[in-house]
Amino acid sequence: MSQITPQEIEGAANFLRAKVNFPLQLGIILGSGLSGLADRAEKSIAVPYGTIPHFPQSTVEGHSGKFVGGFIEETSVLMMQGRVHFYEGYAMPQVAMGVRLMAALGVRTLIVTNAAGAVNPNFTPGDFMLIQDHLNFMGVNPLIGKHYSEWGERFVDQSDTYTPELMARARGVGKALNVTLREGVYAALTGPTYETPAEIRMLRTLGADACGMSTVPEVIVARQCGMRVLGLSIITNMGAGMASPLHHSEVVEIAEKRKVDFQNLLSGIIKSINAE
Ligand code: HPA
Repeated sequence: MSQITPQEIEGAANFLRAKVNFPLQLGIILGSGLSGLADRAEKSIAVPYGTIPHFPQSTVEGHSGKFVGGFIEETSVLMMQGRVHFYEGYAMPQVAMGVRLMAALGVRTLIVTNAAGAVNPNFTPGDFMLIQDHLNFMGVNPLIGKHYSEWGERFVDQSDTYTPELMARARGVGKALNVTLREGVYAALTGPTYETPAEIRMLRTLGADACGMSTVPEVIVARQCGMRVLGLSIITNMGAGMASPLHHSEVVEIAEKRKVDFQNLLSGIIKSINAE
């Protein structure tokens, strides 16, 4: 597993800090087809991943690959527009490097978003789901490897991975905006294949409500860094075997259809966090 050192993080952080040079209240990772929120940022500064020393490139369609710093609802935010996935061939420390970088820039609260398939048969494509907890079926963990004590604990507690108080805020915003928020457990698999119908049945038996190919590595690192975490999924399709065969274009299309509501929900949550 390819390691990242504190020196590399510091080098990358110094580069990013020189461009995004204001105190940050919030970090946001924008998933597949959800990157439009960055267009709402005022006084924004974009920093392509490719320009940042030691930073891996995102190669997926629908993930443009840059940090965007700016202001949303008068809140200073640093967004990752496009993330780095394990299935692209990067090692876990690289996949979660953006979160370490955010931490180095002072981010203490992180909102993580993704597109996910429904495992829970009561869900419908287009639903939004608040992530209550996760199942790591990636078979690896981003904290494997040399431990640097300045990064936090070696053995990270995962009892309250998704911060209850942020979940309560998100529920309140959903109610106020009249946006239905499902809640459930997100299972992360490596991809890039979608699951088999048997795997979807297995995931359901094991307590998953939705599944995807991201989020868990970033959340684990965020928790090691001591960040508060809120996770939100957009359900773009029913899991394999529950409806029609899956295609990435469907994922992008549903996310696109729901983007205004999703961005409104996120903006409301950002405002509510700013008012804390
Ligand atoms: N499975 C895994 N990842 C996904 C899915 C899915 O059904 N939909 C969007 N991302």
